[in-house]
Amino acid sequence: MQAKVAVVTGGADGFGATITDRFHDEGYQVIIIDINRAKGEQKASGGPNLHFLFGDVTQQETWDQALALSRDKFGRLDVVVNNAGITGAQSPVHTKDMLEYERTFNVNVRPIFCSARAIVPYMIEQGNGVFVNIASTGCTRPRPGFAFYNASKAAVNVATKTMALEYAPTIRFNCIAPAVGNTSMLQASIGSGADSQERLQKIEDLLPMKRVAQPIDIANAVWYLATDQSSFVTGTTLEVDGGRGI
Ligand SMILES: NC(=O)c1ccc[n+]([C@@H]2O[C@H](COP(=O)([O-])OP(=O)(O)OC[C@H]3O[C@@H](n4cnc5c(N)ncnc54)[C@H](O)[C@@H]3O)[C@@H](O)[C@H]2O)c1
Repeated sequence: MQAKVAVVTGGADGFGATITDRFHDEGYQVIIIDINRAKGEQKASGGPNLHFLFGDVTQQETWDQALALSRDKFGRLDVVVNNAGITGAQSPVHTKDMLEYERTFNVNVRPIFCSARAIVPYMIEQGNGVFVNIASTGCTRPRPGFAFYNASKAAVNVATKTMALEYAPTIRFNCIAPAVGNTSMLQASIGSGADSQERLQKIEDLLPMKRVAQPIDIANAVWYLATDQSSFVTGTTLEVDGGRGI
């Protein structure tokens, strides 16, 4: 049997890099889509079954290319992980620039639809497939200062549930909602100054499990939702948040 195929967006860095490793370790062909060419190429050099597609996930043509690559080279496409995302600076709405709104919704929400538009018809023909979309606890337990981000992740959540209904029983759609994770996104929010450790400590104190998520926590949850272990699970949002959402 041919190896299964997963597409992981934002697979060059952060959660996406470890999600990529998780699937690769399980014998999948993994197609990483990322706008960071240097990191994407470096990541893909880590194994023969890792492939890099340089592209912007907000563009429909990137998804058409991803489908063409999986279909023509591997003859299948089993899993799409919409992981690439961005946040903005912590500031109240009246001080925000609407360009931040457009950027945030463009990167966080648009690919959820572009990916489905390109890949759902193929998965229907194939007879199965799975989408795992990375949302955030921000969509149900928002922190102040991140209104655009939180709202964009709420959109991811509802879009995912809607498509779970539209494409069951052939294709499953689920979300993962991380709280704070140890990636460059966290580094950007705590900064690198003398008080960055203090800021990190404050964040950890807010989490019942008293630590931030490690990328493997998210990757393990993606793996669960992507495989037959979760074959009766669709339209759910799995909080992987150390208890933050309670
Ligand atoms: N890290 C956290 O604390 C946290 C918490 C909750 C949710 N999340 C979500 O998890 C996901 C991953 O976050 P992360 O912390 O690993 O981020 P990260 O910034 O470490 O990595 C994101 C990756 O996505 C790529 N990317 C960004 N825009 C892209 C685009 N338009 N096209 C293709 N690639 C693009 C980047 O180049 C980068 O490699 C995001 O959706 C984020 O919103 C993160």
